[in-house]
Amino acid sequence: MISIRQAFVSSLAALAFATAGAAVTSAPAQAGDPAAGKKAAAQCRNCHGIDGIATIPIAPHIAGESQVYLQVQLKNFRSGKRENEIMNVVAKNLSDEDIANLAAWYSSIKFSVEMPTD
Ligand code: HEC
Repeated sequence: MISIRQAFVSSLAALAFATAGAAVTSAPAQAGDPAAGKKAAAQCRNCHGIDGIATIPIAPHIAGESQVYLQVQLKNFRSGKRENEIMNVVAKNLSDEDIANLAAWYSSIKFSVEMPTD
């Protein structure tokens, strides 16, 4: 017989799975063309670098970020859901295709990290 606790745990797991599924469906990653994204990244390079390593202190590094994350953030900047005076202007003119391509480019960059020695 299944205990209440087991039932509770398994329904929580089912809920988590369903929620994750819903999140993925509402924000599908559109496949993009990294080569086209590299060209489009000319308009991003002054702040994020063509390689995704920021060239100014106020801009984040975006090299190797997940494709889904990059697409969601760029769409949020475009719609104004995420507010930033620079990025709202930058993203306003990007099409869904530009966003997919830019996300494909920046997510395809591999980087390595070096931990500080203590
Ligand atoms: C003039 C400088 C500038 C330019 C040009 C610029 N960005 Fe940004 N970008 C920023 C800043 C500053 C932020 C931080 C925004 C914040 O604090 O919310 C940012 C944030 C982002 C983020 C969110 C990163 C994260 O970790 O959440 C993405 C993605 C991004 N930019 C992509 C791009 C792309 C793609 C382009 C070119 C189409 C571009 N940016 C052009 C300055 C710039």
